[in-house]
Amino acid sequence: MAEPAMQLKNLKKTIKKKPIIKGLNFDIYPGEVFGFLGPNGAGKTTTIRMMAGLMKMTEGDVIIQGKSVKKDFKDAIRHVGGIVENPEMYPFMSGWKNLLHYSRMMPGISKERMEEVVALVGLEKRIKEKVSKYSLGMRQRLGIAQALLHNPSILILDEPTNGLDPAGIREVRRYIRQLAEHQGVAVIVSSHILSEMEMMCDRIGIIKNGELITIQTVKDTVQQTDRNELHLEVDETEKVKGYLKEWGNEDVKTENGYLIISVTREQIPVVIRQLVEKGVNIYGANVHHSTLEDKFLDLIGEGAIE
Ligand SMILES: Nc1ncnc2c1ncn2[C@@H]1O[C@H](COP(=O)(O)OP(=O)(O)O)[C@@H](O)[C@H]1O
Ligand SMILES: [Mg+2]
Repeated sequence: MAEPAMQLKNLKKTIKKKPIIKGLNFDIYPGEVFGFLGPNGAGKTTTIRMMAGLMKMTEGDVIIQGKSVKKDFKDAIRHVGGIVENPEMYPFMSGWKNLLHYSRMMPGISKERMEEVVALVGLEKRIKEKVSKYSLGMRQRLGIAQALLHNPSILILDEPTNGLDPAGIREVRRYIRQLAEHQGVAVIVSSHILSEMEMMCDRIGIIKNGELITIQTVKDTVQQTDRNELHLEVDETEKVKGYLKEWGNEDVKTENGYLIISVTREQIPVVIRQLVEKGVNIYGANVHHSTLEDKFLDLIGEGAIE
């Protein structure tokens, strides 16, 4: 595996004697979109501010491309681009003028680089228009373009889809995925909305009360390779149980008149076909599987996420 782009080492923050972040340890890799998911007040923004060098750590360290933020601040932070608070854009200026304004505050940003970031977020056609004419999604993309100007290998976005309509969310999601997949950027996004994170991220770290509860790989949980419960309504349940046993399916229960069989997704059509071939009348068939959402709710508690 590649070297991590960013490492959190026992990262802690205490504000007015109150522990807010209680020792975070995890690594983020180049080319991945890492989601930081948790209910409001969980500590996402506080963590992100420390990752981006905007807030002092109380304890621990953040290592960026091998450099310690504590000991080597400038060398570490130069790899990071981010939008933590709402990006300040001047609505009366064009997108291009806004970028120019920012690039003047940073050394060595060429016009070519500006054109490159505009293309990266797909704003070529509208960049000469005033920002006041932009949709919220376009403004968000301009913010991302600005954050990318100095060619960071890590991009940090705190709740980037907040306030966007579904089309805007799709837009931002597409550019975030593209940056990770085609530019190898490590993208860290935070959100309190699970469904969004599932669509955008490769891995999701769940934070609650300043502690990391788990890190889940999205692909693993979405591919339902785990067991499903097949609920079947049939007559002659005992006879059907016998068939299932014969076919090697020992794990059969009866509940409220339903037969409940534990199967993989691939086995579902096979079992149904075999039963039909045996002349069994099937009045109903339902599949229950533990979704990512169930897992999250188990982990962080009902009502904690929208
Ligand atoms: N400057 C501050 N002073 C006191 N408490 C703070 C401060 N900033 C954040 N907190 C507290 O820290 C916790 C985490 O906040 P935050 O990082 O903003 O969470 P999130 O971004 O996940 O919603 C909250 O309980 C919040 O009230
Ligand atoms: Mg926040």
